[in-house]
Amino acid sequence: MEKSENALTLGRSFEKVNAILEKHGYDPSNLIAILQEIQEEYRYLPEEILTYVATALRVSPAYVYGVATFYAQFSLEPKGKHIIRVCDGTACHVKGSEKVLKAIREYLGLREGEKTTPDLLFTVETVACIGACALAPVMAVDDQVYGPMDEEKVRQILEKLEQESEAS
Ligand code: FES
Repeated sequence: MEKSENALTLGRSFEKVNAILEKHGYDPSNLIAILQEIQEEYRYLPEEILTYVATALRVSPAYVYGVATFYAQFSLEPKGKHIIRVCDGTACHVKGSEKVLKAIREYLGLREGEKTTPDLLFTVETVACIGACALAPVMAVDDQVYGPMDEEKVRQILEKLEQESEAS
């Protein structure tokens, strides 16, 4: 029983992958575009899908993994719906980016080494200067830049995003 349920889930999740592969004519020279579209769909590249893609394109899994790990745009780890980037460039660092990062991680209850919340709503990353130094310390959520940040603003912004996602 459990086995057939698993097969069903897997079959369903591969439907989208199959559509992407078909669109690209199962052509291994389109591998990067294929992986980009799969990542858009799943927000990361699940291991079983990389293996499946390799089989479907008749190339080795090592080749597909090689491409997936070579390009920084690809993630082999699950990512949250919202990507929070805390700037740790010089201006932001001087103005207290570490405190901002700590406040975000505390608010989200992220443990040591964890980047993504278990509900897959948020992923937290640090980045180098994002070119908004006048607003230091800066954080960006997806494409929106916020600053200057403090603990209170962190709470307000994250609360709002949580409410929006509950409503949707
Ligand atoms: S150092 Fe943070 S935006 Fe420039």
